[in-house]
Amino acid sequence: MQQLSVRHLLGIKNLTENDIQLILDTAREFKDVINRPIKKVPSLRDITIANVFFENSTRTRLSFELAEKRLSADVINFSASGSSVKKGETLLDTVNNILAMKVDMIVMRHASPGAPHYLSSRINANVVNAGDGTHEHPTQALLDSFSIREKLGDVAGKRVAIIGDILHSRVALSNIFCLQRQGAEVMVCGPTTLIPKYIGSLGVKVSHNVREALAWCDVANVLRIQLERQQIKYFPSLREYSLYYGINKKMLDELDRPIVLMHPGPINRGVELTSDAADSHHSIILDQVENGVAVRMAVLYLLAQL
Ligand code: CP
Repeated sequence: MQQLSVRHLLGIKNLTENDIQLILDTAREFKDVINRPIKKVPSLRDITIANVFFENSTRTRLSFELAEKRLSADVINFSASGSSVKKGETLLDTVNNILAMKVDMIVMRHASPGAPHYLSSRINANVVNAGDGTHEHPTQALLDSFSIREKLGDVAGKRVAIIGDILHSRVALSNIFCLQRQGAEVMVCGPTTLIPKYIGSLGVKVSHNVREALAWCDVANVLRIQLERQQIKYFPSLREYSLYYGINKKMLDELDRPIVLMHPGPINRGVELTSDAADSHHSIILDQVENGVAVRMAVLYLLAQL
């Protein structure tokens, strides 16, 4: 049986192309499983997984929990609000107390970049990064690639534009690594203030014109403005952002070739995307959510083999 080259999923940066293909191929098999009348397999029976979320989440938390249950793992859920973190307990103490209850794997979302890396070198359990601040969100990038592969047949050779708040996005960085490792071309597009200065060193194209980005790409992956991470004003108003960078259905319909519209969620309707674009035939946004369960099943299953 093929195995991953890593014991933890901390980011796409640490994965080889073989790792990515193994996860996507395994997810393909799990997608068949979750579309059967009996959606469950016994693969992780006797494994206990803790979902440890120090930041808000809808899709990622529920998707991991469902993936774990579909694999027959025992699941416990921890959220920082309502926990003893509020009484001053450290991250490491909190996780060591969870592990003392015989937990095998930690899925963690944390606001601090590097928090899962810190943990992985100090505990004896597999760690899966479910999003660490503005750094990486590896399972989101994997499910995005799975969705592109499903829709367009392959990721290699495709042109993907990531449009929006690149500076504060963990989805952007993980997608850049994941897409490039599979042979896709990547462009980032947004206002100058929301594109990090180091981006050129990653070998991506840069545009500040959303129509230019849409005309160039096969896939537009649109990101929301992360106001909760912005300490200063990066643009005059949401209304102005929407005027210059918002995407509507007419802009997609007028292109001279098909385009696939993606968004990791949550969508701020009327800001980065109008409802008629988000809900149009171009959009695979809900397919991404569906595919997230199969991809997370694959990640958990493969890590549990190590
Ligand atoms: N895409 C994503 O990470 O969504 P949540 O923040 O709801 O988990």
